[in-house]
Amino acid sequence: MSLPGSPFFTYRNGVLCVEEIPLSVLAKRFGTPLYVYSHAAISAAFREFQQTLAAHPAGANSLVCYAVKANSSLAILNFFAREGAGFDVVSGGELARVLAAGGQAQKIVFSGVGKTEAEMESALIAGILCFNLESAEELRRLNAVAERLGKIAPVSLRVNPDVDPKTHPYIATGLKTAKFGVPMQDVLPLYRLARGLPHLAVIGIDAHIGSQILETAPFDEALARLLALCAELAADGIPVRHIDLGGGFGIPYRANENAPTIREYLTPLLDRLAKEQAKGCAPRFLIVEPGRSLVGNAGALLTRVEYRKPGAEHDFLIVDAAMNDLMRPALYEAWHEIIPAREETTAEREASAKTRLCDVVGPVCESGDFLGKGRRLAAESGDLLAVLSAGAYGMAMSSHYNTRARAAEVLVSGSAAHLVRRREKVEDLWAEEEIPLF
Ligand code: LLP
Repeated sequence: MSLPGSPFFTYRNGVLCVEEIPLSVLAKRFGTPLYVYSHAAISAAFREFQQTLAAHPAGANSLVCYAVKANSSLAILNFFAREGAGFDVVSGGELARVLAAGGQAQKIVFSGVGKTEAEMESALIAGILCFNLESAEELRRLNAVAERLGKIAPVSLRVNPDVDPKTHPYIATGLKTAKFGVPMQDVLPLYRLARGLPHLAVIGIDAHIGSQILETAPFDEALARLLALCAELAADGIPVRHIDLGGGFGIPYRANENAPTIREYLTPLLDRLAKEQAKGCAPRFLIVEPGRSLVGNAGALLTRVEYRKPGAEHDFLIVDAAMNDLMRPALYEAWHEIIPAREETTAEREASAKTRLCDVVGPVCESGDFLGKGRRLAAESGDLLAVLSAGAYGMAMSSHYNTRARAAEVLVSGSAAHLVRRREKVEDLWAEEEIPLF
């Protein structure tokens, strides 16, 4: 069976390991629930981006801006910074995090529909690479903030190319009904507005059509539309230097599932870009903003079974991780493989095939609190399970719901494990609160 995340998460002699360490060792040392990340897996995914881009004439001049929202652990941000990556941020908080982790401001693009004045100010002071803007009001606001600071803000417009990314509706952003981006018919007028604002410098064009996209065609369609716009802009005297294709490259979540590789996603895009560059009308600098495809399959959430509870129709495996730790199943009905840390023997597998199906659920008081439904697992109280593909949008979307302290995070490299975030103490959860005296 090919697991998502393999070869970095694999059974060795019946024991599930991350790189060279058994997950049971980590669970014992750091407790559960525990997020575990493989350094080698992140590094391999980043290398695939870098190598694919470097090997293609259209990618030679390019920047991979890691989408911080996928996993904003300082340790992971620092890894990307040291590898020379750029960053895509969507808040002043993410900007501050990247800088705290050692990221270079000149490699940061700032996306998002609702940038505040304070966020614009801190990004201008830091000296970021580009603001991806989305509306006339935002353009005027940034121009005013830049004027006040005596700066020129480098900008691109995030276009909504109106393509169907064929993904979950909550993570589709490139359809014209979405709140994101500038509608196609408004793009040229907005670029003209930007050109006329003295404290903005137009440098690029941008799109991000959605996330967990498993087909290459929607990206290609979006690129074709952006390139047509670039030609229109050049004809209007507004040439752009870079084209930013956003992120959204999907990953396999199920065992034995096929998804395009990073090379397969990028190559048709690079081919199209090279063709247009040869004609002389396409930007020479390419940016991509991958999040999930860099870290998603590099992480797992370890959780221990508290109880096996028989229900009317199936069993419930009640585990110590919950929707506050990993929200994706509750929010998107997302599928994550859930496998035992100790591989089932053939006899156990045969026995578990006869046991009842179970829902893997957390202790939170909501029926939506599940990590997986209808699974075939023989696990019992005390057993350790791994929820795979949890490196992206796992810890980053966690909450304190039910006053649950958030999980610890461990980064593994070979046989070394480093605790990169301590488990929260419950007292931390009310540290900012006050009881009034009236
Ligand atoms: N750039 C922008 C402007 C974005 O909004 C996003 C993700 C990315 C890049 C990175 O996309 P990725 O390569 O990771 O697909 N919480 C959801 C995913 C939300 C994605 C939001 N934007 C999930 O758990 O599936």
